[in-house]
Amino acid sequence: MKKVLVFLTVTIGLASFSFTVLNNQQPKPWAVPDNFKKMKNAVSSDAASVKEGKTLWDTHCKSCHGNKGLGDGSKAAQLKTEPGDFSKPFVQTQADGEIFYKITEGRDDMPNFKKKLPEAEDRWNLVNFIRTLKK
Ligand code: HEC
Repeated sequence: MKKVLVFLTVTIGLASFSFTVLNNQQPKPWAVPDNFKKMKNAVSSDAASVKEGKTLWDTHCKSCHGNKGLGDGSKAAQLKTEPGDFSKPFVQTQADGEIFYKITEGRDDMPNFKKKLPEAEDRWNLVNFIRTLKK
């Protein structure tokens, strides 16, 4: 009887653990309003914009998202939601306006940057920088 209980405890424990792990790899859907999806990037992606974006990234984003956006910043381990790997299609296939919206509004552990970066231009520079993280 005891053996059965131990077996059950271990099995249920393992099952819920792997559920959590697998679940974390699948980012939960993040709906973006249509007007943002269709929004045109207001800043052309030239060297100056990417450089500006990189400076902003290092100040405001790197601590969670990591130097190259792999999701491995120094604060990443403390986050409840995974920031994800920005070199991957899950970010790179999104429209500029979708990325812009998520930076602007934030969600859960992802802060919103409406107040910290009130200039839309700064957030577009970040979008242009994020494009360079594609592998
Ligand atoms: C405190 C940690 C933290 C900081 C600082 C932070 N992020 Fe995030 N970010 C996250 C987390 C966690 C998520 C995943 C949120 C979710 O899916 O609910 C995320 C998600 C995102 C996404 C959406 C990815 C997707 O799922 O489509 C973008 C884009 C993004 N961050 C850009 C930035 C930019 C740009 C900055 C800096 C201006 C920044 N983040 C700063 C933690 C952070």
